[in-house]
Amino acid sequence: MKKILEKCKQMVFGHVGVCILLLCVLPLLLVSHGLFQEVEIEQESFDPEMEDLIVVGFSQLGSESGWRSAHTLSVQDALTKDTGYFLIFNNARQIQENQIKAIRSFISQRVDYIVFAPVIESGWETVLQEAKDAGIPVILIDRMVNVKDESLYTTWIGTDAWEEGKKAGRWLERYLREKNRQSEDINIVVLQGTMGSTAEIGRTEGFEAIAENHGNWHILESATAEFTATRGKEVMREMLRRYPNIDVLVSQNDDMTMGAVEAMQEAGISFGENGKVTVISFDAIRPALEMVNEGLINVDIECNPVQGAYIDEIIKRLEAGMSVEKSYVVEENIFTKDNVAKFLDDRTY
Ligand code: AHR
Repeated sequence: MKKILEKCKQMVFGHVGVCILLLCVLPLLLVSHGLFQEVEIEQESFDPEMEDLIVVGFSQLGSESGWRSAHTLSVQDALTKDTGYFLIFNNARQIQENQIKAIRSFISQRVDYIVFAPVIESGWETVLQEAKDAGIPVILIDRMVNVKDESLYTTWIGTDAWEEGKKAGRWLERYLREKNRQSEDINIVVLQGTMGSTAEIGRTEGFEAIAENHGNWHILESATAEFTATRGKEVMREMLRRYPNIDVLVSQNDDMTMGAVEAMQEAGISFGENGKVTVISFDAIRPALEMVNEGLINVDIECNPVQGAYIDEIIKRLEAGMSVEKSYVVEENIFTKDNVAKFLDDRTY
């Protein structure tokens, strides 16, 4: 009898063990065979009450910067149930493949509109064609796509990154003139954002277009720090090690600037209004504007993240059968110690 009981125990635990093993291994097998999709769509479940709402799928490229958080909030604040929308939000974590999956998921859910901020400019033809074939209008926001057929998207809303780069160059021209340094050799390093993104391409090319006119401006190195503070610090630390005579840092967003500033502090290099390295930054989020006010950043070229209201207006026009422009450029400012104080109070992001 004891032997029979022992046998039964082995069988039962043996089966339980196999079941536990299967429960652990099966999902891995399914994922590796592509049977489970890994697209994380953050959304509420559909309910019939939302039938009157306009369903918008929003593929945000990531959450890499303070600017990006403000941009996301601006869209979420504009497209609410009160304003007539059901918003499906997806954060692509700076990975193009995630955005493609999210857009495909929006198409299969048959959303009314797709809003998307492309992480880089290239590689969108196929998925945009799929959206077009499904009859879903695509509204680009913040960054652009590089496609031959412009009918693949309805409109674009964003900032003029090329002009932002030129503004930085023109400001440096004026500043050096004021300091009577216009004929000196000026050593410049550039922290670039995500390579191939509109913000990086525009700001790099715009600044270089001005730099070309000055034989005494030497761009020692341009390197990506991916629009993040962590990479900004790492890349700047390396640059400081390689180039002991940096006169100007051009940092293509405030987060990278903050990282770079830390690297300069750690290396004992002075910067800003009274320092050795002149700091040019982009975005103009509040923490950076405070640094402008303190004289730690010389100039901040604004990139305006408040773009959500444009989406609302454009969709309402399209719903009313009205036409929309192919592009909308958001207004922007330049901040230095001379003008920043009066803007600080109103800066919420
Ligand atoms: O595309 C806009 C840029 O992207 C902003 O300058 C930057 O902060 C963001 O990550």
